[in-house]
Amino acid sequence: MSNRPLNVGLVGGGRGAFIVHPHQRAIHMHGTRRVVAGALHPDPKIALEEAANWPYPIRGYGSYDEMIAANASLPDDQKLDYILIVTPNHVHFDPAMKAIEAGIPVFCEKPLCLNLREANALVKAVRKHNIPFAVAHTYIGHWTSRLARYIVRNGLIGEVRWVDSYYLQGWLATRLEATGQQQAAWRTNPKMAGGSGCGGDIGTHALMQLRFVTGLEITQLSAQLETFVEGRPLDDHFTVYCKLSNGGRALVRASQICIGHKNDLGIEIAGTKGTLVWRQEEPECLTIHLNGQPDRVYWRGAVTPGDGFLPKDMPADLMSEPTLPPGHPEAFHDAFARLHHCFEADVRAWKAGKPFKADGSKYATVEDGWMGIAFIETCLKSSARKGAWTPMPKKV
Ligand SMILES: NC(=O)c1ccc[n+]([C@@H]2O[C@H](COP(=O)([O-])OP(=O)(O)OC[C@H]3O[C@@H](n4cnc5c(N)ncnc54)[C@H](O)[C@@H]3O)[C@@H](O)[C@H]2O)c1
Repeated sequence: MSNRPLNVGLVGGGRGAFIVHPHQRAIHMHGTRRVVAGALHPDPKIALEEAANWPYPIRGYGSYDEMIAANASLPDDQKLDYILIVTPNHVHFDPAMKAIEAGIPVFCEKPLCLNLREANALVKAVRKHNIPFAVAHTYIGHWTSRLARYIVRNGLIGEVRWVDSYYLQGWLATRLEATGQQQAAWRTNPKMAGGSGCGGDIGTHALMQLRFVTGLEITQLSAQLETFVEGRPLDDHFTVYCKLSNGGRALVRASQICIGHKNDLGIEIAGTKGTLVWRQEEPECLTIHLNGQPDRVYWRGAVTPGDGFLPKDMPADLMSEPTLPPGHPEAFHDAFARLHHCFEADVRAWKAGKPFKADGSKYATVEDGWMGIAFIETCLKSSARKGAWTPMPKKV
């Protein structure tokens, strides 16, 4: 393939949509990817209107079926190199499956899909077609998440005993969905969101953060899915006590009724030698607490290997990666851009017929997405039995 920018097609994104915009900015951030097409709305007429009004020229399609079908007959320089799925959860499986079968790599929003049946089918299809597939777990794209992963997985804070991984919000503390607010309306509708509201929406991010940083899996869990806002059919408060694969314990919790909390995702990991603390609302740094020592705060771009805690031989790809000097803050868009950038490398390798990594170290894979769905289904089972300890299914 020539060195042209990768062509991205959007599924969803018209009429007041939210997450498409951080994504499309992140797609353009390196100049090596561009959005060229979109099926932006379920109504074909609106989809075409929205495409015509997009801030820069794109090819509009009345539906994602049309966009995927049209791709086969486009000249090579116009073909889609991947599609980005930014629709509500119930419209993840179908476009993802159709794109995979048409040989188009997929970058899909989380949660992967609605249930384990769909998740199993997606994993099977991705493996059969050996095609790049990413799930948009934004926060593992922060450089400090990668530093945290390096620190914890290399034993620098010792054996992990306890993890508190949380995502707290307050925007659904009232019945916002009754006002017709778009993002609240589908998130509180079981047909569109899936079996869990808060857990599926943001508990899956807390789970991904735990798994990405520690490398540990949940073996059993005891879950309470609760609804505080009257008349809401899905949980808005989600608390899960977990047994970890190394014998440690964890709390994975999420809430959307905690007034004052905005996007308060964070993780604290207590090991036998120290504790690591990270919060996405201040994603430029992480803190290490060691017994009997002053706290250490590590800022992106200002890390010195061999400082008495970090070893001398830090991995080159981790150390060379930050792009801005510290103090010029990176944030949400940069995290997304890092995911798209790493996905791009795999798509380019795949297109050149070379092996590609997709090992979960740079972005969440279809297997990570599967784990999110398996987690939610296990939480639903446990919560229905008053929080009974329930085993997680074996890895797919
Ligand atoms: N990774 C993150 O940090 C993050 C943050 C927010 C949302 N999300 C996820 O992104 C997805 C979208 O969330 P949102 O808040 O942007 O929703 P939204 O309601 O703002 O946008 C959804 C878009 O999908 C379109 N759509 C719906 N059905 C469609 C169809 N059949 N064909 C084409 N377009 C269709 C809508 O018209 C709209 O443009 C959800 O799965 C959500 O969980 C992820």
